[in-house]
Amino acid sequence: MSKSINLKQRPIGTPTLADFEFKEQENNVTLSEGEILLETEYISVDPYLRGRMSEAKSYVEPFEVGKPVSSGIIAKVVDSKNENFKKGDFVAGLLPWKTEQISNGEGLQKVDKDKAPLSAYLGILGMTGLTAFLGLHEIGKPKKGETLVVSGAAGAVGSVVGQIGKIHGLNVIGIAGSDEKVNMLTSELGFDHGINYKTTKDMKSAIQKAAPNGVDIYFDNVSGPISDAVLFSINRFARMVICGAISVYNNTELPKGLSVQPFLVKNSALMQGFIVSNYADKFPEAMKHLATWLGEGKLTYKETIVEGFENTPQAFLDMMAGKNNGKMIVKA
Ligand SMILES: NC(=O)c1ccc[n+]([C@@H]2O[C@H](COP(=O)([O-])OP(=O)(O)OC[C@H]3O[C@@H](n4cnc5c(N)ncnc54)[C@H](OP(=O)(O)O)[C@@H]3O)[C@@H](O)[C@H]2O)c1
Repeated sequence: MSKSINLKQRPIGTPTLADFEFKEQENNVTLSEGEILLETEYISVDPYLRGRMSEAKSYVEPFEVGKPVSSGIIAKVVDSKNENFKKGDFVAGLLPWKTEQISNGEGLQKVDKDKAPLSAYLGILGMTGLTAFLGLHEIGKPKKGETLVVSGAAGAVGSVVGQIGKIHGLNVIGIAGSDEKVNMLTSELGFDHGINYKTTKDMKSAIQKAAPNGVDIYFDNVSGPISDAVLFSINRFARMVICGAISVYNNTELPKGLSVQPFLVKNSALMQGFIVSNYADKFPEAMKHLATWLGEGKLTYKETIVEGFENTPQAFLDMMAGKNNGKMIVKA
């Protein structure tokens, strides 16, 4: 039997387990010419999936109700009638949440389990690592000695952004949602300062204190009041890299907050959103840097791995609620 996890209904506000449903199908594994049979090994759960669960127009199509949710998956080729893939290969790609599936191989990339653990291809050597590298370099344009603030700092993207900042000689401040996470940033990942936004009453003052010379780059994963507080510390010609806005993904009403324009005008500052795929032509070069730094021990990565395909929806909900350190991944 092959299992799948479908979107049962579009979540309103914070998603719950009731928004997902499990299905089982008989395995019909007779392959046609050009096809491969895949067994799912690891599943990535990501904040952007929340957007795809709603009907709103975005940069990716909404999921269809009654059909499987899909995300980054690492799978093993267990049978092949495609000359590009052989039995025993491992592949990465955007695939439906199914324990087994047939593919024609389109959009799949082989990954080498001898070069890095398979799960790393969903994080530091996958989409989130590329997002961190390309957002910081293409928009943040880091220069030695500058101050970088990262929100969502203990997550998959944020934890890598801060470490790359340190490689470039920046003063790095991470904002995260628990003392344990803040401690991980400063004691394990080399961040200079950490701020727990859940226990800090006055974020504006806390940021001013951690960044007495002001903020040159803000890598924003969260939006909302945290990002409003950073605005008060930005320097002339600051760059604000708008990567994500997780604090408002479950909103049912338009978010309220500061008008950013006066801050931008006064400081001749840049605020730019991006989607990692904008820089697809730079993926090979970015990947080379990430793999080299990883090999040299200049970069490390954190993962929270949840066991069991059936726990994928709960892992997604837990990631949205901040229960992950680094990349949240399910081992199927
Ligand atoms: N632009 C792109 O191409 C691109 C690509 C990948 C990801 N992203 C974005 O980057 C961001 C991070 O993604 P990720 O995959 O690395 O996820 P992640 O940071 O590993 O996990 C999400 C984290 O968000 C934090 N969070 C949840 N609610 C929050 C709130 N109300 N305020 C502040 N923080 C909150 C939680 O940490 P705490 O415990 O610290 O609250 C949680 O661990 C997301 O906004 C995502 O959409 C963008």
